[in-house]
Amino acid sequence: MTGNNPLIDRLRQARNARLQRRGGAAEGPPSAAAHGPARRGARDFADLPGLKQVRLAHAAAELAGLRSPFFRNHETRAAPLTRIDGRDCVNFASYNYLGLNDHPEVRAAACRAIEEWGISAGASRLVGGEHPYHRPLEEALAALTGAEDCIVMVSGHATNVTTIGTLMGPRDLVLVDSLIHNSVAEGVRLSGAQRIAFPHNDWEWVDDRLRRSRGAHDKVLIVVEGLYSMDGDSPDLARFIEVKDRHGAWLMVDEAHALGVLGASGRGIAEAQGVDPGAVEIWMGTLSKTLSACGGYIAGSRQLVDLLRYTAPGFVFSVGLAAPLAAAALAAIEVMRREPRRVARLAANGRRFLEAARAAGLDTGLSQGHAVTPVIIGDSFRTALVADDILKAGVNALPILAPAVPEKQARLRFFLTSEHTPEQIDRAVAVTAEAVAARRGESMLNRLGRFDPA
Ligand SMILES: Cc1ncc(COP(=O)(O)O)c(C=O)c1O
Repeated sequence: MTGNNPLIDRLRQARNARLQRRGGAAEGPPSAAAHGPARRGARDFADLPGLKQVRLAHAAAELAGLRSPFFRNHETRAAPLTRIDGRDCVNFASYNYLGLNDHPEVRAAACRAIEEWGISAGASRLVGGEHPYHRPLEEALAALTGAEDCIVMVSGHATNVTTIGTLMGPRDLVLVDSLIHNSVAEGVRLSGAQRIAFPHNDWEWVDDRLRRSRGAHDKVLIVVEGLYSMDGDSPDLARFIEVKDRHGAWLMVDEAHALGVLGASGRGIAEAQGVDPGAVEIWMGTLSKTLSACGGYIAGSRQLVDLLRYTAPGFVFSVGLAAPLAAAALAAIEVMRREPRRVARLAANGRRFLEAARAAGLDTGLSQGHAVTPVIIGDSFRTALVADDILKAGVNALPILAPAVPEKQARLRFFLTSEHTPEQIDRAVAVTAEAVAARRGESMLNRLGRFDPA
């Protein structure tokens, strides 16, 4: 009896042969009984393509004798160092860009807020009211971004979904960069607008497309990221502004990975590229990365913020941001403004990693050497092997595998922080280059080819 995926069957055969060689019992495909009593008419969740894919990945990892790189258990607060499986390692898998997650002022602000206000905001702000951190945080973010006003919500992902879902509709067009974050794509799906993904950073493509078909749509929104989270590069903001102005479109910039990272004081792409932030209609960012809390924000005109405050379902029908999170984000902004040397240290670390990786012959793709640099390995299986190898050597960087990126683009992703030391960076690059060289030529097909179940 076989399952319905030949590769899973092949992997199961391989595992059974291994088990039998070790004297254990072989395992068959999952039986109906294993899934509990049959429910009439109900589809099994296991039939959904997502779960099949996950099982395939787990089977492949098991065949290779690899522990899953995902949901790794950290035994200490993740900072530049962390502990996994009792082993200390240098951590390149956290968005703690300016090291504020364990900054004493940020922690103290969160604790004070809990003492005074408890943990949950208790209800939607519209009906449950505000606590004294909401508006000061929004005002601080508006000032930092150079916008008139700002609104904070409880999740960065939900901020994109509900904002785009509120602004756009079925007669509209949303042009998104082909590397845009999933939350933007989900927002467009919710809105019912037509979505077109344009070639990465290609403002000329967008210009041409709008020249030919702007008239076919009511509203048009262009969405880019300030710093791309998978590739570590930035768009030419001034060019995108010219294009959207020429065609009467709105521009939205997701600064999730740019805030605290780009520009001399960490204000993001507008500061880094010397562009007037007032020329962008919608600034989006998260509280979960540089600001060491959780949540998202939209900064822009008072009109935009008022519209979202009263009509965006993800804000109106969702609880307000918890006091300790708002207080932590506010304190993080204060430290960041007071200590621009953190931003400078991060910039130096980002450059150092990129230069060392290039010198070691690693493929760093489009990275411009800020806080995010990929090491492209090109095969998901080999990437998982290299991630495991470097973890054993004391370096934690997560693999990004297909389908999150195209199969030939599988990579390790390194997040730099202001707190990494030059020695930690140099060693991580050396260890990675060694593992990449050692695993050259490895692939899942090779492994299966070498395997003889008889
Ligand atoms: C570009 C981008 N936008 C939005 C989000 C969602 O933010 P959050 O994780 O704070 O929900 C992320 C998350 O990593 C992101 O990378």
